[in-house]
Formats: sequence, C-alpha cells, structure tokens
Amino acid sequence: MLLQLLSVLWEALSLQVVLVFLATFLLLADYKKQICPRNYPPGPTPLPFLGNILYLDFKKPQISARKLAEKYGNIFGLQTGNIRIVVVNGLHLVKEALVHQGEYFVDRPKSPVLDKVFGSLGLVFSNGLSWKHQRRFALSTLRNFGLGKRSLEERIQEESRYLKEAIEAEKGQPFDPHFQINNAVSNIICSITFGDRFDYHDSRFQKLLHLLDEALLLQGSFWTRVYDLFPSVMKHLPGPHHTLFKKWGQLKSFVKEIIEKHKKDWNPSEPRDFIDAYLSEMAKEDSASSFHEENLLHSALDLFLAGTETTSTTLRWGLLYMAIYPDIQAKVQAEIDSVIGQSRQPVMDDRDSMPYTNAVVHEIQRISNIIPLNVPRVTTKDCTLAGFHIPKDTLLLTNLTSLLFDEDEWETPNVLNPGHFLENGQFRKREAFLPFSAGKRACLGEQLARTELFIFFTALIQKFTFQAPKDVTLSREFRIGLTVSPLPYRICAFSR
Ligand code: HEM
Ligand SMILES: *[C@@H]1O[C@H](CO)[C@@H](O)[C@H](O)[C@H]1NC(C)=O
Repeated sequence: MLLQLLSVLWEALSLQVVLVFLATFLLLADYKKQICPRNYPPGPTPLPFLGNILYLDFKKPQISARKLAEKYGNIFGLQTGNIRIVVVNGLHLVKEALVHQGEYFVDRPKSPVLDKVFGSLGLVFSNGLSWKHQRRFALSTLRNFGLGKRSLEERIQEESRYLKEAIEAEKGQPFDPHFQINNAVSNIICSITFGDRFDYHDSRFQKLLHLLDEALLLQGSFWTRVYDLFPSVMKHLPGPHHTLFKKWGQLKSFVKEIIEKHKKDWNPSEPRDFIDAYLSEMAKEDSASSFHEENLLHSALDLFLAGTETTSTTLRWGLLYMAIYPDIQAKVQAEIDSVIGQSRQPVMDDRDSMPYTNAVVHEIQRISNIIPLNVPRVTTKDCTLAGFHIPKDTLLLTNLTSLLFDEDEWETPNVLNPGHFLENGQFRKREAFLPFSAGKRACLGEQLARTELFIFFTALIQKFTFQAPKDVTLSREFRIGLTVSPLPYRICAFSR
C-alpha cells in the first residue's frame, strides 16, 4: 500500500515537471491543430495548449476513463495537440470498427518509441503491404510447423513434462511460478521459431526472459509515454527510456546471433523452424521485397514477445485463481480424473469431453482481461463510426473490458464463474468473449495460445493442487506493462 501511494505521489510530482515542459512546447506548437474536426465524437473540451492530456492517466487508464465513458457513452474522443484518440465501448461498436469497417482501422499507430525499437518492421507494428506479406507468411509457417514431423501439440506436451518436474522440485514450499511458466511458454515459440527449447537452468536464457519482462514493463511506463510526446527533448535527458532502448538492443542481438547460426548450417531441403523457412522465402526469386534479414529479425522477435508474455500471464492468473477458488479447482480435478485419469497426458481431443475445464480456461481468460484496451489501431482514411466523423490518423482504442465485463452479458462479471461458459453442463461459446480481438488484424497466435492454455493448464491441475501458503491471503492486485499481470505472488503446489 505504502509503496503504491509513494509511487502515485512521485508520479504526481514528476507530472508537474513534465507539464512545464509540455506547456513550453505546446506554446511553440501550432495551436490551430487543436481545433476539433467537425462531427468528431463527443468528449471533454480540450484545454488551451494542453488539450486533453490531463485525462490520460498512464498508470490506470481504465479508471481515469470510467467517468468519460459514463458521461459520453459508447464512443468518445480525446485530443492533445494533433494527437486524436477515439475510444469505443460495447460489443456492437467494437465489432463494427474491427470487423465490418475493419479496412479503415487496420493499421497500427506510429510513435517515436515504437519507431526507434521496431522501425516499421515485423508483424505487430508494421503496416501496409509489408505487414500483409509478413503476416500471411507467419500464419502459414506456424501452420506448417504445427503439422510437421513433431506436432505442436507434442511439443507442448513435452514442455509440460519439464514444467511439472520444475514445479515438483519446489516440494510444496511457497514459490513464485513466474519464470518457470514464462520459460515453458516461451520454449514453445522458441522451438517453432528458433528450432530449440532452452533448459530452465540455462542462465543466458533466464537473463533473456528477465530482459523481455523488464523491457515490456518499461514499455508501459510513464517515461516511455513522455518520450513519445517529446522525443527530441527526452533524447537528451537521462531516464528509464534509455534503459528501455538498451534492453531492446540486447534482445535483438540475441535473435541476431541465432539467425547467424541458422545461416551457417542451413539446409534448404530440410527446414527446421520459422527462421529456416524465412531464409528459403528470402532466397526465392519472386519473393516480395519485404522479405529481408531485418524483417526476419523483427518477425522472429515479434513472435517471441507476442507469444510469451501473453500466454504466460494468463497461466499465472489461472494458477492464482485456482488457489483463490479451491472449489473450482477441485471440480476441474474431478473432471480430469474421470476423463483423462492420472496415467496419460492431456491432449486437445480431450477438450470436447471436458466442458467444465474448458469453461474454466475461458473464464480465466475473461476475468484476467490482460489487454484491456486491445492493441491500438489507427485510421487509414477518413471514415464514419456510429455517425461520427473520424479523420485519418486517429488512434482507435477498442475497449475489450467493456465486452469481457459487460453486465448485460455476464451474470457475475467480477467473479470467476465457469457457469458463464456452460449451459446444461455443455460448453457454450459467448460472442462477447474476444480476448484475442477480431477482424483481419486479430491475434495471429490465437490457435497456438488456446492449445497452450488448455494443455499446460490441464497438465498442471492434473498433477498438482495449488494453494495459498499458510496464513497468506492471495490478492488479485495487478501491475500494468504490455499486459495486465498479477503482482508477483508465491504459491504452494502439492503433488496429487
Ligand atoms: C493468451 C494469449 C494471447 C492473447 C490474449 C493475445 C491477444 C492479442 C491481441 C488482443 C492482439 C491485438 C489484435 C488486434 O489488434 O486486433 C494480438 C496480436 C498479436 N498476437 Fe496475440 N495474444 C495471445 C497469444 C499470442 C501468441 C501465443 C502468439 C504467437 C504466435 C501471438 C502473436 C500475435 C501477433 C504476431 C500479433 C500481431 C498481429 C498483427 O498485428 O497483425 N499472440 N494478440
Ligand atoms: C472500458 O470499459 C470498462 C467497463 O465497461 C469501463 O469501466 C472503462 O471506463 C472503459 N474504459 C474506457 C477507456 O472507456
């Protein structure tokens, strides 16, 4: 509590310092840019010079925006200088933007930090033809390696054996499962992309995972946002943003080394992984011009970063919720015992005969809500949404929280309730369940993530009962980085 309070105070103080910078620079900026476009979605009146900057609470954007959503409804607009942000709430409008009018909202925004770290390369932050080609290639390659010699499912099963061993070694003592889970999850994407898994005791890889974790946490930090507003000033000031760039640099050299090694022992007739397949694509005479080494580096890095933190965070929420709701955990175990038993590994084919476990996995994803405002998009052209005019280059935030916690959709939005996904004992799909987003730019790894979540989760609950350490009350408090993740916690895993 105290720490949190201190950090809030500290941020309030530093905010004042920043506001001085801000005022100075916006004075120099073109004030006319702030004039609202006609028929722009309603929102608070921009202050002279500052626009709506005061509404952009960096730590808990969901909370500062609550009042706005209550006041202005399902679509509202903010403006700061020439930066426009439109926020969209509710299933109907979110689908309208992402799916029915998807082509207008298909791009990712650019920002000085993203430009510096990712350029316009890779999968997550690229746009246009390059994005289209990289995405199509990544999707089909993931599919191929999923069906290849060793199926994806087998890789996940093998990895869950290692994960169970590592957790068993904790002998029921309180431990933080963060890096074991991170390592297991990231090994799946590593084995697809780089051709190999890494041992949990491999100190170089542990360092890399810490790097990734720190970089993603910094990515969401206050100073990163300030850098985005004033890159030319911040460049010269000390601060955590320099650490961020350094960490990304280290992550890139790690991947670069792996690529170099692949180039040395590459055999085009036997592609081992994503990198090999990409090298073959580059060598084709008629391949699109975006297939070059820099893009290989960034696509591989993007798979690694989009595929590790998300799934690992969801699983960490899952174990935490199982310890908080022992009755639900016991019911999952009963279903596992009757359908799978103790002698074999779970497989995807079990899912259809395990409606309760399937519902729990969905419900964990719903309530964890790890990407509350989706990944931002930007309009490619002027367009109209809900009757309002949205100019080109407006940032679009689709509020996934408003779907996953909609009181009209879910009986008990704030409580873990597998009943949300059950009807007469059978699994039922829910339209408002869109944690992977929707449309042409939706999560590229959805299939993979669902397979990982089901197999890892089921394998762990089959083998262990998770409990809070003696005299400890586990909390649902979170921190915000790239995803909303549980605060570090310790838990006991008792072998069954
Ligand atoms: C629980 C796990 C996961 C969740 C909740 C999740 C969620 C998301 C969301 C919300 C987006 C933004 C989509 C949009 O803009 O509409 C996204 C994009 C993306 N995800 Fe995932 N994801 C997960 C796992 C994975 C995995 C395992 C991979 C690895 C292959 C992956 C790869 C990507 C990529 C490459 C993108 C960018 C797609 C693009 O911009 O075209 N994700 N994900
Ligand atoms: C997103 O939706 C939630 C739940 O409806 C709401 O509390 C929150 O204020 C919304 N956030 C924004 C930015 O509109």
